[in-house]
Amino acid sequence: MKILIVGPGAIGCLLAYSLQRRKHEVILLDKDQKRALILNKQGITVEAANGKNNVKVKVVTSAKDINGIDFIFICVKSYDTKNAVQSIKHLINDNVSIVSVQNGIGNVEVIQESIESDNIMVAVTSIGSTLLSPGNVRLSGKGDTFLGRPDKKNSVQLKKVRELLTESGFNSKISKDIKSVLWSKLIINVGINPITAITGLSNGALLDFEGAKRLMQQAVTEAVRVVKRKRIKLIYDDPLAKVESVCEATSNNISSMLQDIRANRHTEIDFLNGVIIRYAQELNINVPVNRILVDLVKTIEASYNLRSTSDA
Ligand code: PAF
Repeated sequence: MKILIVGPGAIGCLLAYSLQRRKHEVILLDKDQKRALILNKQGITVEAANGKNNVKVKVVTSAKDINGIDFIFICVKSYDTKNAVQSIKHLINDNVSIVSVQNGIGNVEVIQESIESDNIMVAVTSIGSTLLSPGNVRLSGKGDTFLGRPDKKNSVQLKKVRELLTESGFNSKISKDIKSVLWSKLIINVGINPITAITGLSNGALLDFEGAKRLMQQAVTEAVRVVKRKRIKLIYDDPLAKVESVCEATSNNISSMLQDIRANRHTEIDFLNGVIIRYAQELNINVPVNRILVDLVKTIEASYNLRSTSDA
């Protein structure tokens, strides 16, 4: 199969590595020229409990000379979805499957706005992966990957994507209600990501500090209130227990938002806790803790240039 992965973050690199190892023809699209050069030279290295492995992957900075793609995995940050989709639009035909493997709410809608296709799918993964440096991924927790279509239908393409992911080592399942899975993941991100980003703690360490734990509980409780009013069903019964269990299962993981903050990058806060605020506003629900978390993360983002690593 010929597979295009858009975005060289932790999940993008992990997918490229895993699919290339299965001898598929993988192309990784990275708009950053400097980083693409490094990736082309060094390949992708994945560090797991059983050791370190490296594979060479073809990395390009533009999709304009690509053709004959079977599968496209969109792995960019939510705020880059629109641009990413524009850059691959010309590759779409009835035989191409497009899979969004992203955090947050709203990505599928952005893809659907730009692309007319009956093969747009969503993958929600809870695999614990950290990007240590360009092309270097640490695998720090096993997790399921749920796949589904926004219209809840099953399809041959969906099964093909599941087969592809399963043979590449992702524990994949088809979900008839991917919207529920997406929102269920959102609740986890709402509770973990901003608090790790603000405190600098790993996912597991959040549970060791009363204040962090309390904030996590309050952010999740507010988000669940919104989800209930929207009549979205979560895939677990006890959201607080679930978030805490994800902290434990990915205990050494540096959340994607903390990775962004450490690298002075834009974060996905608008697509996570920001989504809760937007819906809460519509529904007239108070979500003060989520507001504070969004304000703090945005303040950090806006003041990278004022931060120094030492006081000397
Ligand atoms: O965004 C992340 O980092 C991940 O979705 C999760 C589940 C919080 C694990 O780190």
